[in-house]
Order: sequence, then C-alpha cells, then structure tokens
Amino acid sequence: MTVDYDPYSYELDADPYPVYRELLEQAPVYHNPRQDFWALTRFDHCLAAFLDWETYSSAQGTVLELMGKPIPTLMIFMDPPRQTRLRNLVNQAFTLRQIGTLEDEIRAIAVGHLDRAFARGDGRIDIVKDFTAKLPMDVISTLLGIPEHDRDAVRGWSNDVLHRDPGNPGVTERGMQAGAFLSQYFAEAIETRRKQPRDDIMTQLIQAEVEEDGRPQRLSDSEISAFFMLLATAGNETVTKLLATAFYWLWWNPDQRKLLVDDPALCRNAVEETLRFDPPSQYQGRVLTRDAEVDGTIIPKGARLLIINGASGRDPRKFDDPDRFDVQREIDVHLGFGYGRHFCLGASLARLESRIALQEVLARIPEYEVDEAGVERMHSSNVRGFAGLPLVYPPGSAR
Ligand code: HEM
Repeated sequence: MTVDYDPYSYELDADPYPVYRELLEQAPVYHNPRQDFWALTRFDHCLAAFLDWETYSSAQGTVLELMGKPIPTLMIFMDPPRQTRLRNLVNQAFTLRQIGTLEDEIRAIAVGHLDRAFARGDGRIDIVKDFTAKLPMDVISTLLGIPEHDRDAVRGWSNDVLHRDPGNPGVTERGMQAGAFLSQYFAEAIETRRKQPRDDIMTQLIQAEVEEDGRPQRLSDSEISAFFMLLATAGNETVTKLLATAFYWLWWNPDQRKLLVDDPALCRNAVEETLRFDPPSQYQGRVLTRDAEVDGTIIPKGARLLIINGASGRDPRKFDDPDRFDVQREIDVHLGFGYGRHFCLGASLARLESRIALQEVLARIPEYEVDEAGVERMHSSNVRGFAGLPLVYPPGSAR
C-alpha cells in the first residue's frame, strides 16, 4: 500500500498524525511525484537535514506553495553566509538576558487581555480570538519599543498580512495594503530613532555592528524593515496556535491539566511537550543543492523536500509512547523550533510568553470545557492550529 500525504488536504488539518505514522513506518523517505516533493519524518533524518544546510537549502523558500517562486528577502529564506551576517546582527538585540527582562511586562499584557475577556462574566471565552491571537503581536511590539497607542494598528496590519482567503494561498489585496502601511510605519519609526536614539530594541538594531572583512557592518534600513516583517509573521501566528493547541490537549487530558494547576512551574515543560506533540509549524521546506542519500534512497539535486518536524515528535525511535501527551515528559531535544542555523530566533521569547499565558489562564479557569461545536481549524500547508477555540466554564467562577 502506498501512503498518500497531501499537505493541502483539509482532512490532514484535522489530524495529520495517522498519516505521519504511516510515513514514519512505511515511507520514511517519502516521494510524492504528483505534487513534486519529498518528505522526511524520522527524528534522526530530520535532525541531519536541519544540520546539513549546504545540501538542504532555504534559499528558494521553505513553504511548499512558495518554493521556487519569487520570495521576500528575509533571513529565514537565505543560506549562510548571507543569513549568518543578518542573524549575528539581530542576535545582539535578542539575547536571553534581554528577553528575560520582559517577564513582568508580558504578564501585564496577558492579564490586561484576560481581564477584559473575563469581565463579560458569561461563562465563555474564545481563547484564540479573545486572547492568543492578541498576545504575541503585543509582545513583539513591546520588545521592539512600539508605543502602546500604536499597537492595535500594528496588530491589525500584521493580521491582515497573514490572512488567507479559503482556497487561495496568496496575500489578499487588503493584506498588500496592510504590508505597505507596516513598511511605512517601520520606516518612520527607524527614522525617528536614528535622530533620537531610545532605550529599545529597535534602536539597538539600528546601532548593532558586526565585523566583516575587517570592516564594521550595520543593518540597512530595508534590512531592518524586512526583519520587523519577519517578526510580525514568524513570531505571531506560531505562538497564537501553540497556545490554543495546548489548551485543547489540556482539556482532552484533564489529569495533565490538574498537574499544571497544582504546580504552575510545570507549565514550562508543558510548552515543550506541546511543541513535541503537536507543533504549530509542521514542516520546514528545503531545496536540495546536490544529490543526497537518506536511508538508502537517493533524493536528487533540485528536489523540493519537507522536513516534517511535526512527525519527528511522534517517532517512537526517539520518544517513548510518543502519542501520549505528558507534561512531565523529560525531553532532551525536539524539533518544534527547527534546529541548526535557522533554529527559531524567537524561541526564548515564545517559551516565556507561552508559559505566562498558560499560567494566567489556568489560574482563572482551572476546569474549562471546550465547546466543540464552535471549534474552527485553520487551513494552511504548514501551520497547524485553531482559528477559534471557545472555552466554557461555570458563569461567575473565573478567578
Ligand atoms: C511557538 C512559537 C514558535 C514556533 C513553533 C516557531 C518555529 C520556528 C521554526 C520551526 C523555525 C525554523 C525555520 C526553518 O528552519 O526554516 C523558526 C525560525 C524563526 N523564528 Fe520562530 N517560532 C516561534 C516563535 C517565534 C517568535 C516569538 C519569534 C520572534 C519574535 C520568532 C522568530 C523567528 C525567526 C526570525 C526565525 C528565522 C531564523 C533564521 O532564519 O535564522 N519565532 N521558528
């Protein structure tokens, strides 16, 4: 029997894991001639491909429908040394120390959104629309130093850029316009900070320097602007989806939820387990720069290949009882943030804000139910998660 894996299928959006199991066991080096791509699912194969960036290139895009088409100039779509130069520059503003100082501010943002949503007191909160869709962009805005009065506009534009109409993978007209507003906004913000430096990350990015060919190098305005656009996309939808997925599986596994309610510090590990068990970014695409052999099969130069990190978390060769959601599981490494040169730049920020969000919601509604009739899944070839997830709780019981 041949396995049929179609990344665009709506059935797959509902539950890709049975197909992943078939791939893992029957077709670890999968070829789909109809849609013209290859796919890896086993943990060791995925890890090796992430590490071998010289063979598995990001430079032609990393999302199936974009690969081989004109793509924006973003470091996520570059190979070293171009990517390394940008990454070294922005790293200076993205250190763990910088991120760690944001804990109180992030908690205040989360509490603000939750206070407003729970003030309705009607026993119902759409955890995506009322909370997880709002938090990440506000956090990125805080990180960058975007003032509070501009954040609704920036969040709105970013969401419009990301929005896709059903059946159409392209950016909408409204999205294009929003992209232009965002670029304009960032161009002005950069200009202001050049004239008058502030104590924020945007200013640090403008001032960041690395030594290259014996000369100090800085980011150009267009590189800074492109980087902000990357943050608004890479750091926005992923966190929104990760959190909603976590709330879904915690509802499905009330014993696991109780563990977190009793010991909120465990939320840190629950974030890692969700990234292993059901990550928002399911695969990372690459194009082969030369023939590669995996498990005895030759994948030809020029092939489009998907590293399905979403499947690698369910590989029994790496994880015991992989289909069990276990917030106490000891995980040495998972591929939910990718690996190697492109390892998620925002991983510490994502971990911090996700832990805070889980803690704050569970402290208020430790025993919610999901209203299954209202659940909406999003449809995308590589991002997995909910567009709407209504949680219900006894009215008046939220703490
Ligand atoms: C749970 C949330 C997140 C997940 C699951 C996630 C996942 C990923 C993955 C899998 C990659 C690797 C892409 C590849 O190998 O082609 C990546 C890269 C990246 N992520 Fe994240 N991400 C998350 C949150 C964030 C946040 C909050 C930010 C920033 C504020 C961010 C910024 C980036 C950037 C800039 C890159 C590109 C790095 C590079 O190309 O060197 N991400 N992310």
